Amino acid sequence: MALRKLVAGNWKMNGSLAALSELAGIVEAAQARPDVDVAICPPATLIAPAVAAQPGLAIGGQDCHANASGAHTGCVSVTLLKEAGASCVIVGHSERRADQHETDAEVQAKAQAAIAGGLKAIVCVGETEAQRDAGQAVAIVEGQLDGSAPREGTGETLVVAYEPVWAIGTGRTPTVGDVAEMHAAIRAKLVALLGAEGAKVRILYGGSVKASNAAELLSVPDVDGALVGGASLKAVDFGPIIAAA
Ligand code: PGA
Repeated sequence: MALRKLVAGNWKMNGSLAALSELAGIVEAAQARPDVDVAICPPATLIAPAVAAQPGLAIGGQDCHANASGAHTGCVSVTLLKEAGASCVIVGHSERRADQHETDAEVQAKAQAAIAGGLKAIVCVGETEAQRDAGQAVAIVEGQLDGSAPREGTGETLVVAYEPVWAIGTGRTPTVGDVAEMHAAIRAKLVALLGAEGAKVRILYGGSVKASNAAELLSVPDVDGALVGGASLKAVDFGPIIAAA
């Protein structure tokens, strides 16, 4: 089944108020492809100004807490993200799984909170290089989905992003064959976990997506879009990826 493609940008801890001027060019590229969904996930402090600058562009968070409020210094809740104007949130990015030691269970709780609070949850999974070299990539990702995919997720509320850790920010990407194998395995797992809705959940590829490789990666079966880091910071880089979707 061909799903509507989603191209999402993850600005990570990059950008600034001044960098929001890039959004105008991104909106232009998005308007040229009304058949593609486009979202930008800037740092939390830039969500509200981004929404104010480009009310027509979907803006998302990069993480959320599983709780609605409370004594969690430095964290941001789904309600706060929504109030700022976010419509989606990335959870379980490998940088957070590594740096903040987030577990599958925590990622699942965050995704559940996001969905319950009305945000689309983009759940990230992906193997390390050592795990791929050991032939464990598919098993690792299936295990991450077992542990972190919210079972109430639907094609509307849940997106999965496959991001091999070794491909993030490195300029290296898996072969088209490896991407196809992994996305087929993720699709089968989602259907096993979510039933018919699992066939409607979009599966993004992420990790060193750029203008020169986007068309090839996005043409792989069950690649329903891209999660883009470095190449989402500038409209001149991100626009062609939207065009390639
Ligand atoms: P990259 O990052 O495109 O810079 O490799 C992708 C991501 O971490 O989402």
